[in-house]
Amino acid sequence: EGGGRGLLTQESKDLLASLPRDKGWILGHLHQYQGFWFPSTQLQGVLACKRRFQAHHNDLLLVTTPKSGTTWLKALAFAIVNRVRYTNYTTQHPLLTTNPHELVPFLDREYIGINDHQSPDLTRFVSPVDCRLFSTHVPYVLLPESVKESTSKCKLVYLCRNPKDTLISLWKFANKLRQQIDNTLEPNSLEEVFESFCRGVSLFGPIWDHVLGYWKESLERPERVYFLKYEEIKKEPKINLKRLAEFLGYPFSMEEESEGVVEEIIRLCSFKNLSNLEVNKTGKLPLGPENNFFFRRGEVGDYVNYLTPEMIKRLDQITSEKYQGFRLKF
Ligand code: A3P
Repeated sequence: EGGGRGLLTQESKDLLASLPRDKGWILGHLHQYQGFWFPSTQLQGVLACKRRFQAHHNDLLLVTTPKSGTTWLKALAFAIVNRVRYTNYTTQHPLLTTNPHELVPFLDREYIGINDHQSPDLTRFVSPVDCRLFSTHVPYVLLPESVKESTSKCKLVYLCRNPKDTLISLWKFANKLRQQIDNTLEPNSLEEVFESFCRGVSLFGPIWDHVLGYWKESLERPERVYFLKYEEIKKEPKINLKRLAEFLGYPFSMEEESEGVVEEIIRLCSFKNLSNLEVNKTGKLPLGPENNFFFRRGEVGDYVNYLTPEMIKRLDQITSEKYQGFRLKF
């Protein structure tokens, strides 16, 4: 899915050929590995990263289900950990001229096309306070070994979103990518992707298993995994930003709070502000989507404009069955 088969090693090709596959949402296929669905090139990056990445004790990893607000979380976390270097949030901040995905990369994608004798150059992501901020969509079972080790000090922030809004956001995004790659391709119908989503066949899906992997870990090791919902940040941005900064190890001082730094970061990273910046209206990621694909409506509950009452009922039922007994509600 998304092309790039030329980057695959022979070993990856052999592995892919042995895995169950299903129709991709963008192009080509998704492949099922350890219960989750991946595009071919991304799976290769995920597996190489799992084997090779060496975590540092002060690394911070933002983990999200696709379309749950990754762009927003990247912006917020980048602004928080870089406060030493960037204190002007209105005229000079890197987020005003660079898309958050360029400032905080997807770690596993740095390993695509890298063989076992090479290492990606990750030095460019070191912040002034010596922490490295990365992101990923990988399910808990496929995190790098060095991150999962019990002695690892690296912290994880996990963000998810209600499955109905996630589905609509992913459907719209995948259709934009299809168009970008080949404008003669028909958009996927909602009916078709709905069925796939319910079966768990979506980018890094099933969404419920993805969420549960991190939810369980956040209950067992709350000092290591901080669990967040898109809807919660929307509802109470200030409280959530302060808690996030504390968890990351960069709490706001009393002085910063009284100077309104928390509010300034919230405003800088808001949907309205980021989506209206020139870079996010007209820019494009290297080898990737146009920046504006990451900004659509940015609201809670947009699914009511697309899903039928039957679809809503079915998705709600799957969600409540999957999360039964886990004290997890959306
Ligand atoms: P919608 O499609 O519902 O509008 P991701 O960043 O994980 O790809 O998720 C994209 C979703 O987050 C899109 O949702 C997008 O509009 C929304 N989004 C992007 N930036 C945001 C921001 N700064 N604040 C809130 N939502 C944002």
